[in-house]
Amino acid sequence: MPALVLLGAQWGDEGKGKATDLLGGSVDYVVRYQGGNNAGHTVVVGDQKYALHLLPSGILSPGCTPVIGNGVVVDPAVLLSELSGLADRGVDTSKLLISGNAHLITPYHTTLDKVSERFLGKRKIGTTGRGIGPAYADKINRVGIRVQDLFDESILRQKVEAALDYKNQVLAKLYNRRAIAVDQVVEELLGYADRLSGYVADTTLLLNNAIDQDQVVLFEGGQGTLLDVDHGTYPFVTSSNPTAGGACTGTGVGPTKISRVIGILKAYTTRVGAGPFPTELLDEDGEKLRTIGGERGVTTGRDRRCGWFDAVIARYATRVNGLTDFFLTKLDVLTGWERIPVCVAYEIDGKRVEELPYSQTDFHHAKPIYETLPGWSEDITQAKTFDELPKNAQKYVQALEEMSGAPISAIGVGPGRDETIQINSFL
Ligand code: GDP
Ligand code: IMO
Ligand code: MG
Repeated sequence: MPALVLLGAQWGDEGKGKATDLLGGSVDYVVRYQGGNNAGHTVVVGDQKYALHLLPSGILSPGCTPVIGNGVVVDPAVLLSELSGLADRGVDTSKLLISGNAHLITPYHTTLDKVSERFLGKRKIGTTGRGIGPAYADKINRVGIRVQDLFDESILRQKVEAALDYKNQVLAKLYNRRAIAVDQVVEELLGYADRLSGYVADTTLLLNNAIDQDQVVLFEGGQGTLLDVDHGTYPFVTSSNPTAGGACTGTGVGPTKISRVIGILKAYTTRVGAGPFPTELLDEDGEKLRTIGGERGVTTGRDRRCGWFDAVIARYATRVNGLTDFFLTKLDVLTGWERIPVCVAYEIDGKRVEELPYSQTDFHHAKPIYETLPGWSEDITQAKTFDELPKNAQKYVQALEEMSGAPISAIGVGPGRDETIQINSFL
């Protein structure tokens, strides 16, 4: 079973970085398949804390080759600064491979992201402002710039001209901004070419060959299921497919090669940016979750919105991703609550609804129906086996598993690599 997908089952920030890093020591490749530096993945190794945005979390495991797949959007300035930041801390980054088909985020994408959010006013998405949406829009519109274009100046210039012809009209006439000079963009991009050329490869061929040779490949998602542009809470989503299918289109590996899909699931719920969130808590419980859970964005530093666990969402994640396992994270954060509410269904316009409604209007009207489970007060951060958890913590995990539709195969009880209870092996 050589290929696994690891993805967020909620609205992102579930602890994907930690989970990927944990598996990094046992896999040959860790591959990002979508998103860009909107992601913020935290990995804690001993007393060292790393915040990764674009690089796959496998970069911290010496035996593992990190890969940026064709489905990712790459801001070359961010990539190089992340690489040098890690190199300064003694991390070997030389094995990194980048697909030549991945699209680039250029300065005009970042500018457009920011001005279009401002233009939306109170309807804004609350993006990370990293140029993600505009870069994917250009890809789909067939005016994107790809990593491979950095190595052909004439093609690069033609493509930047084609992209800016239209955008400069928009910038000047709609947003009242100064036009961006083609020369300036081309010069900046060419400046990255030499430093990136050594990393660029035919990653699709390489990953398929690796799988054929029984090497283990782990696909690491950014964001989460409910931020998926097709399956999430559109329009309050990111512009790519974090769901399992994205691992295929974003790397060129077919679905028949994928044997396991692991959903990372926080023991409560968080969300950053705008959009519906049925179990959101605007009271002191929400504040307590935020404080104890350290729920502040790794990328933008924004406070995360916090709420109780939502089993409707977990079931939905199981369905749209074909999840085989869950990795339940941050169970330790719930220590100390006497009773813990869990959303088991919604009430929508007076009716009980068990599954996530496809209608945006219905979801906006969804009110959580809670079941309350007994809490625990014992410190669980040292627990190494399921049996070492207090009885009520065990019951909480079992209840979530029953409601969510896939086995919980690991439990996070702290941010560190070893603060994990492994129930079933992922490999
Ligand atoms: P990602 O974007 O999914 O990788 O998640 P983030 O890194 O944005 O946010 C997850 C946060 O929770 C990070 O600060 C992690 O170090 C931390 N974390 C991960 N797993 C656990 C856990 O089981 N317990 C606790 N207390 N913290 C965790
Ligand atoms: P990780 O990988 C949480 C959210 C933004 C915004 C929406 C669109 O760390 O889980 P974008 O900049 O992508 O166009 O913003 O998506 N968002 C995330 N929220 N975790 C993330 O990544 C996110 N990446 C984007 O807050 O609501
Ligand atoms: Mg994050």
